[in-house]
Amino acid sequence: MNFDLTEDHRLLEQSLREWAGRDLAPRIHELDRAHRFDPAILPQMASLGLLGISVPVEYGGAGMDYIALGLASEELEYVDTSLRVIMSVHVGLNCLTLLSWGTDDQKQRYLIPQAQGSKIATFALTEPGAGSDARGIHTAAIRRGDRYVLTGEKTWISLADVADHFLVFAWTDPEKKQQRDAAGMSAFIVERGFKGCSSGTLKEKWGIRAGNTGFFTMEEVEVPRENLVGREGEGFKIAMFALDQGRYTVAAGATGLIRACRDASVTYARARKTFGVEIGEHQLVKEMIAQMESDYEAARLLWLRAGWLKNTGRRNTKETGLAKWFATVASERAASDAVQIHGANGYSDDYPVGRFYRNCKGAVIYEGTREIHKIMQADYLLGYRTDRPTRCALPAWEGRAQ
Ligand code: CAA
Repeated sequence: MNFDLTEDHRLLEQSLREWAGRDLAPRIHELDRAHRFDPAILPQMASLGLLGISVPVEYGGAGMDYIALGLASEELEYVDTSLRVIMSVHVGLNCLTLLSWGTDDQKQRYLIPQAQGSKIATFALTEPGAGSDARGIHTAAIRRGDRYVLTGEKTWISLADVADHFLVFAWTDPEKKQQRDAAGMSAFIVERGFKGCSSGTLKEKWGIRAGNTGFFTMEEVEVPRENLVGREGEGFKIAMFALDQGRYTVAAGATGLIRACRDASVTYARARKTFGVEIGEHQLVKEMIAQMESDYEAARLLWLRAGWLKNTGRRNTKETGLAKWFATVASERAASDAVQIHGANGYSDDYPVGRFYRNCKGAVIYEGTREIHKIMQADYLLGYRTDRPTRCALPAWEGRAQ
């Protein structure tokens, strides 16, 4: 086993760290306070190749591996969760899913502009009545000649008011829906411009305030048959496959948030004095900082292992889920302790740790709650769940030209 990053990875990490620290970090506090998403970030990310980072060059991407995607997610969330969310929905949940399940025509029409960053994409599974229970969605797609007609409401959609393309999940078989048979669900590419689509922003979110989150409503939206992703009935598997990629970016991102909490805490513990000494001298403060370090290192190893599995083209649902579960729960602990170390200052808006605390909670809920991931891990051990190879795998990166 080689735990070293390659020279390319190190350069990427270093250059993103510099860029994010210089160009993004100074702006994020004001954006967060104003609950404002700044669309100017998207062309900047596109020019750095981030919006297609691990998409092959032939499809408009930067052709880097899945470790590079993890590193970018970690560096972006070090600054703010809203920045990593863009990687999760656009690259993880959408682009990498089209790369595996899309037709050639879909890759030409949708994946290439997305990877180049001229079009922005997202993922639309969750509904007002269905989050963890993905089979509980109600959106319906009725076949009429060479089109499907989609009606339904999606909510908690990241970039809902920003994205051009939505990967939408809907029931195509009403009987299977009644039986909760996942084989009755299908996936579609829906363009914002299709007649009958509308979106809106969810206001006053608790955290990730510099991000755009909203709802996406479809009223009798006609979607051409060519926009069916995979075969009819494969939608649920495609959603789960997409989540394997999204959860990976969430895991790496939460790892970045732990590091941000650790660094802020170390700086503060050296600067603040109580009882005549730096607070870092107090054992209970040391304990919290040491816990952040062990959580950071463990979380990083877990997402790196998941990324390495992805590079080899092997199924990684279990490993990715474990990385996501561990990192997000640990990030909540780190953020809570970082606020604690900062005392009353942490409870104010003058230091970033309060924002970290508000932001980290989202990831303990979305892309599989803490509870869903716990149960999945237990089910693997108990033999109730196994990962078999699927019809479409994430293309192995190993051996691909950079
Ligand atoms: N890849 C490919 N196929 C998969 C798969 C994967 N990762 N996981 C499951 N499948 C396949 C299975 O093999 C099975 O197919 P077969 O019948 O042919 O074997 C089929 O899909 C059904 O799988 P399961 O029976 O395992 O499905 P389940 O009903 O037991 O799943 C669950 C239950 C794990 C709780 C699932 O519903 C789940 O993950 N829920 C959480 C949903 C979620 O994460 N939502 C977040 C929304 S996104 C979001 O928050 C976006 C954002 O903007 C941040």
